[in-house]
This record gives sequence, C-alpha cells and structure tokens, in this order.
Amino acid sequence: MKVGLVGVGRIGALHAGTLCDLPGIDTVLVADADPGRAKVCADRFGLTPVGSVDDLFAARPDGVVIAAPTAAHAELVGRAARAGVAVFCEKPLAPDAAGTRAVLAEVEAAGVPLQVGFQRRFDPGYQAAKERLRSGELGRLHSVWACTLDPAPPPAAYLPTSGGIFRDCGVHDFDAVRWATGAEVVEVHATGANRGAGFFAAADDVDTGHALLTLDDGTLASVAVSRYNGAGYDVRLELHGSLGTAVAGLDARAPLASAEPGTPGPGGAAYANFAERFAAAYVAELAAFADVAAGRISSPCGGEDALEAFYVADAAELSRRENRPVRIEEVRR
Ligand SMILES: NC(=O)c1ccc[n+]([C@@H]2O[C@H](COP(=O)([O-])OP(=O)(O)OC[C@H]3O[C@@H](n4cnc5c(N)ncnc54)[C@H](O)[C@@H]3O)[C@@H](O)[C@H]2O)c1
Repeated sequence: MKVGLVGVGRIGALHAGTLCDLPGIDTVLVADADPGRAKVCADRFGLTPVGSVDDLFAARPDGVVIAAPTAAHAELVGRAARAGVAVFCEKPLAPDAAGTRAVLAEVEAAGVPLQVGFQRRFDPGYQAAKERLRSGELGRLHSVWACTLDPAPPPAAYLPTSGGIFRDCGVHDFDAVRWATGAEVVEVHATGANRGAGFFAAADDVDTGHALLTLDDGTLASVAVSRYNGAGYDVRLELHGSLGTAVAGLDARAPLASAEPGTPGPGGAAYANFAERFAAAYVAELAAFADVAAGRISSPCGGEDALEAFYVADAAELSRRENRPVRIEEVRR
C-alpha cells in the first residue's frame, strides 16, 4: 500500500516515525509546504520525499494522512475526497462547525472513508475504562471527570490559530466522554480563568477552563483543561459508577502526589507531552487507518464524531464568553 503524509511538523513527524514501520505499507510519500522539511523527515525515517502536495496526489496514493496546520485541513481533505482517496486527518477538520459540515458533505459525496485523529480512543487505558463501563462492572454511571492539563503554555503566536482552549484541548476530552459513555452531550456550562501570561487574554482566550456537561441520560461530566500544570502532562478519564470506578491515565507516570502524610504517589517520571503519553495510541490509530484504507474495517472515528465533539467545544466557548448554560441545539444551527 502507498500512503501519503502531508505536513511533518510536531505531529506529522511523529506519524512519519509510525508509518515507516507499519506492516502492509510499502511506500510513504512525504510532502510539506516546506520541501526541505519534507526531505529531512523522509531521510530520517527512510521514506520518499516529494516536492509538493500536488506531486503527492499525482502519485495516486491509497490513503493520505493529513498533519498540516488546522487552516489547511478542509482544503486537503476535500482534495483527497475528490481524488477518491481514504483520508486520515488530524483534529479538527476545519476551524469552525460550518467548515466542518462543508468538508463532511464533500467526503460523503465522494464516498471516501475518513478517520479523524482522536487518538485517545486507541489508548489501552481509555479502552479498558470504556469496556469496564460497558460490561456493567461500574454499575450506573453517575459522574465522569476528564482532564487535559498541559505542563506549559504553547507559543503566544499559536493561540490566535488554536480556536481557544476548549476547541484546541478540550475537544479530545469531549470526544472521549461521548465515546466512552455512548451518550450525547445536551448542555454545557463553562467558565475560564487567566492567571498566567498576558498573551492568553490578548488572544481573547483563557489559560484554564472548566466545563460541566449534562449528558442525554442525565449523567454529569466535568472537563478541566489548563496550560499550566507544572507537575507534568496529566490526561485522565475517570468513570465513577454505582458499583465501581475506572480511571484512565492513572499509571506510574501520572503527575499526581498524595498530600496524605506517608502515602506515596505514583512516583514515576511524569509524561512530558502528548507524544510520550499517547505513543502507543498514535501507532494503533494509524494501524487502524491502514485497515480503513485497505477496506478491511470502517472508520473507528468518523467525521460525524469530529463534528459532535466540535459542537460541544463550540458550546463550551460560547458558555464561557456569555457566562450561561448553552444547549448543544443552539450551536448546531
Ligand atoms: N491528535 C493530537 O494529539 C495532536 C497533537 C498535536 C497537533 N495536532 C493537530 O495536528 C495539526 C498540526 O499540528 P502541529 O503541531 O504538528 O503543527 P506544526 O506547525 O508543528 O506542523 C505543521 C507542518 O505542516 C506544514 N504545512 C503548513 N501548511 C501546509 C500545507 N498547506 N500543506 C502541507 N504542509 C503544510 C508546515 O510547514 C509544518 O511542517 C493541527 O491541526 C493540530 O491541531 C493534533
């Protein structure tokens, strides 16, 4: 199978390192807006650099992995759809819901498979938590707690392109809540705070946000996101039920410390970033995409999932700005 990789920055270079070892993939074509960067990355992993995105599509790949910046996603996904090529795209599909709907219409009309990069669905801990809930072991779910706590803020220049903390970070938690519970979010009440660098407020964003979600079966979910978690990269999904609890992300490297005297915490070196924390999940999601592109399975994370998670993020952003609960129906329009 021949796969194209578009964009080899932070996440694209990670995907290059995965694609070079995936069984069933013989050729990986690498393109970047910066051809020099494509060549360096291709040389590093023994892949095939091409001079441009045009050249990549001209080589008629069986699947395309898009890891270019968000602003380029819709155009590139549309291009893959028009070429009749299976497409994996990093989240989000577009900077806004209208753009997401437009690109989904194009994908649907073309009939190509689409997988969106919500890698937590492939994390062994997240999968085990979901399975324990599904099996009935946790009983009736009463509360979900989820968090994405980054150890340090991104560069100031990134913020205006990020869509805000809920669309940038929280969207992974919103997808995980939907996916793990099988329930839809109906209402969001969110707030945010800026107690760190001034560039968050200057970008009309917040450095920390909390969102309270009401699910369609009445379950409550709390999502916390922050850019200033000095203890390390802390990403968890906690499912609390009438019979038990399952926590994804509570392993030896969880950056948690007990305040109880004499009680040890996990103790391992904290994960530095998403690449370390989700290393296995990034491999598993692209292995799944190879199966999708080969027609062996349907997409495990389709465009509708991306759109639903985006609606929750939109609702959280609106709620934070207007300091009121927002029904998902309101942002669907
Ligand atoms: N799933 C995750 O955990 C995760 C993590 C990080 C980033 N992301 C997403 O991945 C995307 C890329 O993020 P990043 O941090 O790797 O960005 P980045 O800026 O580090 O890299 C982007 C790369 O794409 C290239 N590029 C720019 N425009 C292009 C175009 N039109 N065609 C081809 N190449 C182009 C740039 O030269 C650069 O090499 C973003 O949408 C982001 O939201 C997802």
